Amino acid sequence: MSARQSPQGQPLDRVDGPQKVTGQARYAGEYAAPDLLHGSVVCSAIASGQIRHIDASAALAVPGVVAVLTHENRPPLACEDDAYADADAADGAAFRPLFNAHILYSGQPLALVVADSLQLAQYAASLVRVEYQQTPHRTDLLADLARAHTAPAELPAPRGDAQGVLAGALLGIEARYSSPVEHHNPMEPHASTVLYGDDGHLTIHDKTQGTQNSQQYVEDVFGLKGKVRVLAAFVGGAFGSGLRPQYQLALAVMAALKLRRSVRVSLTRQQMFTFGYRPRTVQHLQLGAGADGRLQALRHGATAQTSRFEDFTEHVVEWSGMLYHCDNVQLDYQLVPLDVYTPLDMRAPGATLGVYALECAMDELAYAVAIDPLQLRLNNYSALNQNSGKPYSSKALDACYAEGAARFGWDARPLAPRSLRDGHTLIGWGMATGVWEAMQQPASARACLAANGSLQVSSATTDIGTGTYTVMTQIAATSLGLPMARVRFQLGDSSLPKAPLQGGSFTVSSVGSAVQQACEALKEKILEAATQRPDSPFAGLALAQVAFVDGALQRVDDPACRLALSELVGQVGELQAEVEAQPSKARDAYATATHSAVFVEVRVDEALGTVQVSRVVSAIAAGRVINPKTARSQILGGVVWGIGQALHEETLIDHNLGRYMNHSLAEYHLPVHADNPAIEVLFVDEPDSVVNSLGSKGVGEIGIVGVAAAVANAVYHATGKRVRDLPITLDKLL
Ligand code: MOS
Repeated sequence: MSARQSPQGQPLDRVDGPQKVTGQARYAGEYAAPDLLHGSVVCSAIASGQIRHIDASAALAVPGVVAVLTHENRPPLACEDDAYADADAADGAAFRPLFNAHILYSGQPLALVVADSLQLAQYAASLVRVEYQQTPHRTDLLADLARAHTAPAELPAPRGDAQGVLAGALLGIEARYSSPVEHHNPMEPHASTVLYGDDGHLTIHDKTQGTQNSQQYVEDVFGLKGKVRVLAAFVGGAFGSGLRPQYQLALAVMAALKLRRSVRVSLTRQQMFTFGYRPRTVQHLQLGAGADGRLQALRHGATAQTSRFEDFTEHVVEWSGMLYHCDNVQLDYQLVPLDVYTPLDMRAPGATLGVYALECAMDELAYAVAIDPLQLRLNNYSALNQNSGKPYSSKALDACYAEGAARFGWDARPLAPRSLRDGHTLIGWGMATGVWEAMQQPASARACLAANGSLQVSSATTDIGTGTYTVMTQIAATSLGLPMARVRFQLGDSSLPKAPLQGGSFTVSSVGSAVQQACEALKEKILEAATQRPDSPFAGLALAQVAFVDGALQRVDDPACRLALSELVGQVGELQAEVEAQPSKARDAYATATHSAVFVEVRVDEALGTVQVSRVVSAIAAGRVINPKTARSQILGGVVWGIGQALHEETLIDHNLGRYMNHSLAEYHLPVHADNPAIEVLFVDEPDSVVNSLGSKGVGEIGIVGVAAAVANAVYHATGKRVRDLPITLDKLL
């Protein structure tokens, strides 16, 4: 197969597309089992206190109800904190479902009603009466800023004298930005189906971003070492919500163990608001610059909410020390514990918030110095990661600026706000930079050439809708010179080779590297087997002297000399190789990151204050893109979410009750099709030989970063009003 035809780099359709569109793809809550029981969760109506008594008698009297589990009758649970600490655990003691009578947040699961059908379980759950002993709660970050404590995060040390230089700077910007709680809301609600085996082994279909993380959790919490297998063949979106085992998993396992039956627990849409979320955050930015707009000093402080039991931390302010050249920088990050559940990573965790504030502040600075916002970024461009002092393995952000601006037509932008208008509609153009880390984790994969000459590759990773099935198949097919149809990638099974959580945009980098290396190791074995045949024309050849083309091994110097792989394995039997891929040492000398430049046009109705995003150009530098079609999908999703962050999304809490009010998709506003403009995605050329052998940096998160700032900056350019509190709703513009 020539390089031109290699699947890697092609915008191929998803290999699992037909299964998804025909409904054959099954999600965690869709697996059947003989005599399957259904659980319905009863959640706390108060935010803080104790359970005095749970009266389940009316629920138990409903025919078809099998049990009501509470903290008083559940199976034994581990006592040590460690048992609950999963691979994405925050500092502190993880929440333990049905552990005791303590109520830590509104929405906390207090009981599980188990019945023959979901409808019976839900009806009976409505009959469970909980008597509370209520204690006062605090749920308002803004009211409790004085209680902020420094987060247990390793921030870059201050450099220079930010405070001193700010005091003397020619031009200064100081502003406070805030952002609300947001909930993940993947289309597929969280669900776990626990199949109870005769020998007490559990096979669990779980909605998760890490089959082995869920497996480990269940084994540790319930003392079931070696008895648990977790499957997640398909995941209907997650965005971080499946990084930690969620309580429906623990509840389903409890019921299965207690009743020795198979049990499914699915959360309702409202219950999707009863665990992790993006935390409410207040940020304080100070920038000092000269008349040329070059940054002389920068301070960025963020305060976020967390729970009483865990300190959730994310990288909010680090980006401000990293992105632009600046010699005097001071970063600060604080947490306020409240009577709420612990926040959880949500798409580009931290960056989505911190870069929003930084990039709005940069826009404010651009007006203060009367320099075009894009030119201001160029004036402050840094070839080094300013926090670590290391050069980037690649950084084509300059190409993102240039190509994105050209595509958008940025050079026609008038500097002054309120310069563009179409009748009653004010038009504004805004831009922002995006940045995310390009990480790699250790990961394993197995490649097996089956007796029929087809290639099976596997790893325990998941596909949360990102295209993992497809991309891994492309990498393997390219390596072995096979058509896509002869390669199958298997994932979503804790019994497969070890894989990290699917998150952080590091799956292609981590698992993709493992797939590629496993295929390379398999090629060695194929060549070795081929050389050992009598009179082999491949005897004495090294891997570099042969090629794998169209399902055959051939000599590079004599392509007519070929051996079909199916013929070889037909004779010697199947061949396989398993490899653990590690991040290379070469990475250590470099900073690795993805970047973007986002350009946005908004149209604001001057009389009504409604904002319509009418155009977006997102230019992305993410190394080599394995599949431009699935990668584009990731960026589109990120941009849509960024528009939601800017204009729509906000989980509102009634602080008297300590309870979310708009916990449904009717009242939790998301951008719908009518809210979304034409979105153009450009991938700029960014060769990178350091980051990994694929040269790929990942695209799951970068699409959202910077979008909210670009929208907010466009709204300012249209209206001359700077709204610093997200979301930018019409009441704030009038
Ligand atoms: Mo993503 S928040 O790393 O699932």
